[in-house]
Formats: sequence, C-alpha cells, structure tokens
Amino acid sequence: MTILLMPRKPAPADEGALFDGLTRQPADPLLGLTALFEADRRPDRLDLGVGVFRDEQGATPIMRSVKAAEGRLLERQDTKAYLGTEGDPLFVRYLADLVLGPERADDPRLTGIQTPGGTGALRLGAELLAGARPDATVWIGTPTWPNHAPIFRQAGLSVRMHRFFDPSRSDVDLDAMLADLANARPGDVVVLHGCCHNPTGVTLTAAQWALVVRFCSTRGLVPFVDLAYHGLGDGLEADVAPTLALLEAMPEALLAYSCDKNFGLYRDRVGALWVQGATPGSATLVRGHLQALARSMWSMPPDHGAAIVREILTESVLKEDWKAELETMRGRINGLRAALAALHPALAPIGRQRGMFALLPVTPANVAALRVDHGIYMADSGRINIAGLRTASIDRFVKQLGPFLPAL
Ligand code: LMR
Repeated sequence: MTILLMPRKPAPADEGALFDGLTRQPADPLLGLTALFEADRRPDRLDLGVGVFRDEQGATPIMRSVKAAEGRLLERQDTKAYLGTEGDPLFVRYLADLVLGPERADDPRLTGIQTPGGTGALRLGAELLAGARPDATVWIGTPTWPNHAPIFRQAGLSVRMHRFFDPSRSDVDLDAMLADLANARPGDVVVLHGCCHNPTGVTLTAAQWALVVRFCSTRGLVPFVDLAYHGLGDGLEADVAPTLALLEAMPEALLAYSCDKNFGLYRDRVGALWVQGATPGSATLVRGHLQALARSMWSMPPDHGAAIVREILTESVLKEDWKAELETMRGRINGLRAALAALHPALAPIGRQRGMFALLPVTPANVAALRVDHGIYMADSGRINIAGLRTASIDRFVKQLGPFLPAL
C-alpha cells in the first residue's frame, strides 16, 4: 500500500508564530503590587495596595462566622454534584433578603443569579447589555476601579469616562459629573458605586444621589450599581439605602454585588447580579439570557463560598456573629480614618470619607519614593487601602508621607 503524504504547506516568510503578534500586557496596577510587597523583606513594610481587610497585625484572618459555617458544611454537605448555571438559588434568595429586603426581593421585575465574585457580576451584566443594546455607551466616573472599563470593553461595549471627583476639594464634583453625562444618549449605561467609592472614598449625599437618579430617569439612562463594600461604610442599612432608592425610582437597573470584602471570602469568588426589568416579562427574558451567558462563560459559579454565605444568613446565631464582626471591621477602618484625618490637615477629608480606600494627593514619583525609601506600598494613583494601616505605626506613616503632602 502506498501512503501519500501531503506536503505541509510552508508558512509564508512573513507569518510569525501564532502568539507573536500579541502586544505585551502591563502588570495589573493593583495585583502587581502584592508581588512587589512580598519580595520586600523589611519588617516594618506596609501593604496599602490591594483591597483586603487587615487587622492590626497586617493579617487577613478568616472570619469566625465563616469558619463556623465551613465546619457545618463539612459535616452536613453530602454531595458535590453540579448546581445549575445560576448557582445556588437559596444563596441568592437569602442574600437578596439581606441586601434588598424581603419585599423588594419578591419583586417580579427583579431577577438575580449567583456569580463568581463582583467581577463576574459586572462582566455578566456587561455581556447582557452588549446583547440587548450593543450600541450603548457605558459611562464611568473617573477615577474608578481600574478593572471597570476593561470589563465593559472586553464585552464589546464602548466606554466613556465622566468627571466625578474634584481633587482640590477631595469631594464629589456633581456639576461636572452631570455636565459630562449630559452627552449620554437614552439607553446609555451609567456605572455607579453603591457605597464606599473605590478609590476615593467619597460619597454622594442623599440629595446628590437623588439628583443623579432623577437625571438618569429623565434622560432614559440605565444605572449599573457596583456594590462591593456593603457594610464597611456606615452600616448594612445605610450603605444600601441609595441603591434601594435607585431601584425604587428607576424602571430598569443592574446591581453587581460582591461578598469578597464583607464576608472576607476573596479567593472563594462569591457574588450576585440582579437585573431589574421594566416588566415581570422582561425579567423572565433577562433570566434566560443570564443563564445562557453564564453557561458559556463559566458554566456554573463556584459553590463553596456561596454555601458559606447561605449558611451564615440562614442561621441566626451565625448571622448575628457575622454582623458583629463586620461592625468591628468597619470600626477599625473608620477609627483609622479619624486618626489619619487628625494627623495632617491635608488628610482631613479622609475622616468624612468611607470604605476601604482613600486617594492621597501624591504623584507616582512620590509613590515610588515611599516604596523604595520606606517600604510603603500603594497604587501609583495614590490610592491606599486604609485597612492596611496599623494604629501602632500610623504616626510614622504620616511622618514619612508628610513631605509629599500639600501644606494647607
Ligand atoms: C481592589 O480594588 O483592590 C479590590 O477590588 C481587588 C481587586 O480585584 O482589584
């Protein structure tokens, strides 16, 4: 038998290897910092980079309530068989009761599914929007979490930035925000931080929030709320109040929720996406699309962290303990904020801001000098994770930072 070998088609001379045409990617501005910090052996080095809660010793311990819930799961869980694309419906239900309240959780115009973290929720929402309204522009206030714009762009949507923060006053610049958003077209999407703005810590007052909601409503804009720090600002109820007011006023909205920080479940990737449709019928339609999109992106979200949250939320003793732990975390962050504010006039606004982050008025060169000379690690933007500070060394931190701060 003769075997005819087909000659391989020679590659054209100018055709390089498959991946050589890719452009080099910069390191992630936040995650890259962790590696740098870990390579630093100075004992008093300070990690103010990525947003994880830290205690006075710089550790990120597993919460008591989480450990207890894990113990219960270990004893009782009798299968690891698949759940569906929408994850654990009981997790979503109990989380909705906590976040939205039982009445709103029952609203037939609202549909929610479990996602891999808040990032998964944002991406799922972005894909939904890209399918429903591919020509929509997503408006994002600046500065923002560095991953916001890439998430929407990767879903194929165009992104435009609008002003949000006035560094000269360390506060929200509502006039500038609304002036920029006046360029948005009906059907465009506006990303709003539900509480604890990342990276600035500034908050819209209730009156300002109401104006933004009215603005969106009269111009037909669709708000997409990112709620990743629920309970770490002023408390569980206060932190979600603006989002609830928005859902009440708007016909259509999206809400991405993360349990990373408030349950300390970072690496377990626990989150949810809720979408409010104009009618119960559109919520049903949306649900089908969320399931199909999730199936093609991650098939099913990881279960373990969500099972822990469900366990905590269904067991009153665990739930009370979790709330107490969250209050302690919030107390530590707000205590550090007050201490910073009292130590230097340029840091005073930090005392009235909320959440894990503050944006220091420093340049990237200042940030590099603090890293090299003092082992203080923060994002190039000047964002610090307040929870990375230590009460015992906060004076030293402000002394080392002082030369770079404006004299007021
Ligand atoms: C942060 O902003 O530091 C956190 O949300 C972690 C992350 O994924 O960037």
